[in-house]
Amino acid sequence: MTKALLEVKNLSKAFPVKKDIWGRTTLSLKAVNNISLEIQPGECLTIVGESGCGKSTMARLILKLIEADQGEVVFEGEDILKLKPTELRAKRQDMQMVFQNPFSSLDPRYKIADTIAEPLKIHRKMSDQEIKQRVLELVTLVELDETILSKYPHQCSGGQNQRVSIARALALNPKFIIADEAVSALDVSIQWKVLELFKKLQKDLGISFLFIAHNLGVVKYIADRVAVMYLGEIVELASKEDLFSKPLHPYTKALLNAAPIADPKQRDRERILLHGEIPKPTDIPSGCPFHTRCPIAEAKCSEIKPELEFHQEGHQASCLLL
Ligand SMILES: Nc1ncnc2c1ncn2[C@@H]1O[C@H](COP(=O)(O)OP(=O)(O)O)[C@@H](O)[C@H]1O
Ligand SMILES: [Mg+2]
Repeated sequence: MTKALLEVKNLSKAFPVKKDIWGRTTLSLKAVNNISLEIQPGECLTIVGESGCGKSTMARLILKLIEADQGEVVFEGEDILKLKPTELRAKRQDMQMVFQNPFSSLDPRYKIADTIAEPLKIHRKMSDQEIKQRVLELVTLVELDETILSKYPHQCSGGQNQRVSIARALALNPKFIIADEAVSALDVSIQWKVLELFKKLQKDLGISFLFIAHNLGVVKYIADRVAVMYLGEIVELASKEDLFSKPLHPYTKALLNAAPIADPKQRDRERILLHGEIPKPTDIPSGCPFHTRCPIAEAKCSEIKPELEFHQEGHQASCLLL
């Protein structure tokens, strides 16, 4: 096996939600709890799970946009959580993020050309002519017409703006991109075109992706491997083929049942539909966090916490009943 590009080890984050008059935390919300995963060079690992299960928090922790409470994020052999600010700035050039809503991530005052050129101006010593050339290369790479360069975000469609965000993310030749629901806000027909673009970038440029999605059709199209999250934890991790054809965890099975995926181009579902209330992350159930909604739970499931373990080659799940 090749050496992993990214290794996340035991990553955790709790947000304080209530403090007493002395400023001590009296209630905290476990958003990400003891997560470990690896991403190989050129691989697309997809994260799927219901809204609020900690996907975006995990993404922000990995890029050190927020501070982890615990854990390591080893990128090319170095724990980026331990880097000094200047070292981190250098490393960040290799690790980029594309967000859900291009309108809020693009500066409305900048022309598209300046938006794409910004990272080059900050991080590269290039002449104006070289920057112009590179910006042109980037818009071509994301399959936009160069006439877009003189426009502002409000003059472009959602799909065009998302391509601009991707072009900017590509400006410094990153090795790794986190796409956080990067196609979820787009019209369905455009979603698939942007997904094709992501796939092309993975294939042609060898970029690794952590691709966050809630639509299983999207997962099925883009993923090499899939991690299923529930209440801040990974409950199952497998190749896409194994996950869809022989899911092990009752939660994964429920997800697959809740969202028929026969036609991946069907209307996107805003939320995964699953019976029963998702528990509050301030009050995570004892034992297996899924036991309160699990159709096959036994008495021990409320007492013993299952570990994420290998049950088949390359296929991990955390369930006491496997
Ligand atoms: N800055 C914050 N302060 C307090 N709670 C937060 C903060 N960011 C996220 N959360 C909470 O953490 C949980 C996970 O959120 P998030 O990572 O955004 O989930 P997802 O991306 O899977 O929808 C949610 O309950 C959310 O309300
Ligand atoms: Mg999110």
